[in-house]
Amino acid sequence: MGEPTNNHILLIGFMGSGKTSVSRRMSKLTGLSLIDLDQRIEALEHRKIPEIFDDVGEAGFRRIETQVLRGLTQEGRSIVSCGGGVVLEAENRRILKELGCVIYLKVPLDEAVGRISQPETRPLLSGSRPVSEIYDERIPLYEETADITIETSGRSVHEIATACIKVLEERGAL
Ligand code: S3P
Repeated sequence: MGEPTNNHILLIGFMGSGKTSVSRRMSKLTGLSLIDLDQRIEALEHRKIPEIFDDVGEAGFRRIETQVLRGLTQEGRSIVSCGGGVVLEAENRRILKELGCVIYLKVPLDEAVGRISQPETRPLLSGSRPVSEIYDERIPLYEETADITIETSGRSVHEIATACIKVLEERGAL
């Protein structure tokens, strides 16, 4: 852990947009450390996300998510992969903007659904709301929170990671 920073690079986007794989690749390419918000939540709670949803519901999960997000101000500069729903709370959107440069990985719904591995680990996919409704609700929130939007459709993980790095370099953020 380095000095506390508000200079992180944060990846947001719908489930299946590639945040986890792209953040890993970006971390390798830049040498910056990697933080996976969902993994942090699971480590803090000593249980997996579906169990957290079962025990405290989505609202409870969101409270923990906000708490973990706030904690990132104490961490050295990192690439941060966020859960797909992190933008739902206005407070989270405010914290994200404060934490650093927010990159939105944009993906069409059908491609996101096709890319999702281990759907059983995503409780929202087996909930009562159609996934298209969840997707439509979130698009404006991703757009509102992002500093940079990267189109991911039809691109490989490596292409997306290098596209993110290129834009960050152009902006003097890397
Ligand atoms: C969620 C996405 C998941 C995880 C949780 C809730 C969401 O992360 O945070 O299941 O609301 O979209 P991924 O986007 O990494 O799947």
